[in-house]
Amino acid sequence: MTIRLVILGRQGSGKGTQGARLAVHYQIAHISTGEMLRNAIKHDTPVGRVVKDTIDQGRLVDDELIASLIKGRLGETDARTRGYLLDGFPRTLPQVKALDEITRTRPLNVVIDLEVPRALVIERLSVRLASEHRADDSPTAVEQRLALYDEQTAPLIAHYRRQGVLAVVDGVGTPDEVFARAVSAIAAATGVTGSGGDGQVSR
Ligand code: AP5
Ligand code: MG
Repeated sequence: MTIRLVILGRQGSGKGTQGARLAVHYQIAHISTGEMLRNAIKHDTPVGRVVKDTIDQGRLVDDELIASLIKGRLGETDARTRGYLLDGFPRTLPQVKALDEITRTRPLNVVIDLEVPRALVIERLSVRLASEHRADDSPTAVEQRLALYDEQTAPLIAHYRRQGVLAVVDGVGTPDEVFARAVSAIAAATGVTGSGGDGQVSR
């Protein structure tokens, strides 16, 4: 069975950390919209120039732009044949609608909601600000990003619960503990236990 998975969760909940490990474990494509956009900025592409200020300030990029990036990426051979893990998309209801349309013939198998309390994600992002200097980890941008999560992204949890594909995973603990919980949740939802390695990946 091919795994088509979404990870939802607050900023700093560990979507990227767990997404990288799960993608290795299941041998599927890890598709992070944040990474795609940061790469576009780094390489000064036309998309990168359009989105830079929006990202740095912690606001959301235009729904249509992001949906068209995802449509293109999900049409690539690896995602079509091996499956994929979406990290950071969808995060608004219009994006859910776009994804429902893109996946009409091959629907999602499971949507993980990685639950981490607000105070803990703020702590994690402030640690990352000190080491990685991501502009959107400044306290002002983090406030903005978390407010947008509550307003625009949290409602997606109810949507996927209604679709019967939601699996809630406790994201508090060490990365190994959270990974083990995610693998159990995915096995319970899909019957797939994984094909590659122990989920360790060098970054
Ligand atoms: P994006 O890159 O997706 O950022 P995000 O959602 O804000 O999430 P983060 O990457 O900050 O956190 P994460 O959940 O991946 O956690 P991580 O594993 O890194 O998006 C960036 C921006 O791009 C958006 O604000 C928006 O502007 C734009 N964008 C992207 N997608 C969009 C979309 N669909 N629509 C519109 N705009 C979009 O972990 C965080 C830190 O905690 C790390 O330092 C990590 O090492 C640490 N950590 C992780 N797990 C643990 C653990 N278990 N214990 C201790 N520390 C941990
Ligand atoms: Mg991330």
